[in-house]
Amino acid sequence: MIIGSEIIFRENLPSTNTYASQILSNKNLKEGTVIYTNYQSAGRGYAGNGWESEDGKNLLFSVLLFPTVVIPADQFIISMAISLGITDFLERHVSVCSVKWPNDIYVNSDKIAGILIENNIMGNVLENSVAGIGLNVNQIKFLSNAPNPVSLKILTGKEYELKDTLTQVASALDKRYKQVLSEKSEQLREEYTAKLYRLNQWAGFRDKEGVFTGRIISVSENGRLQVETKSGSRNEYSFKEVEFII
Ligand code: BTN
Repeated sequence: MIIGSEIIFRENLPSTNTYASQILSNKNLKEGTVIYTNYQSAGRGYAGNGWESEDGKNLLFSVLLFPTVVIPADQFIISMAISLGITDFLERHVSVCSVKWPNDIYVNSDKIAGILIENNIMGNVLENSVAGIGLNVNQIKFLSNAPNPVSLKILTGKEYELKDTLTQVASALDKRYKQVLSEKSEQLREEYTAKLYRLNQWAGFRDKEGVFTGRIISVSENGRLQVETKSGSRNEYSFKEVEFII
């Protein structure tokens, strides 16, 4: 086991990702170390957003990875593996879940988990990667202006033991990360694509030209979203170049 072989718990932290990045210079840290907390005073989401999580209710953790087999051009493989690890875990508890590109985890049309991956490149390899995950578990009321949060408890009515849930999620992530290490990138990309929210469904999107109707066809090797428009053109987008209209 790589992911979850070491677990560091702190009662509260500003952000597990920030803490993980700070301790990365400690040469004794093992790959796969998980840092988790009950509460983040400055939890970070992507695009400078925050991350809401009530004290002691959800999983808030970061995994330290040293994916030196991955070249920078292929770094999206980490997002794919982490997203699939989370959906593998969730599928044991809820019927349908999907990945809203690039790495929001959805159940139906609600967001149950967010992923913030911060990679450090050294020369031509990924020297290290901090994969931060916020998975809504037992919280039932959300106060921020996030549009569509949901949790396992809202969906199933059950209360989950957090440490046990973390162990299960870490093991699911470990299986997927081993596919990265054994360079099963095509398999990961196929499975990731098959899980995409709105795959092959006509829906509203917004890009720099404005709102349009399109459908997701696939994801390129470097993680760009491929969308076909009603007028028949095929567009490829990097993160932030396209927005889903929910
Ligand atoms: C998103 O915006 O959807 C990504 C959210 C990522 C939140 C997690 S919680 C654990 C880790 N520490 C952080 O500060 N952020 C990530």
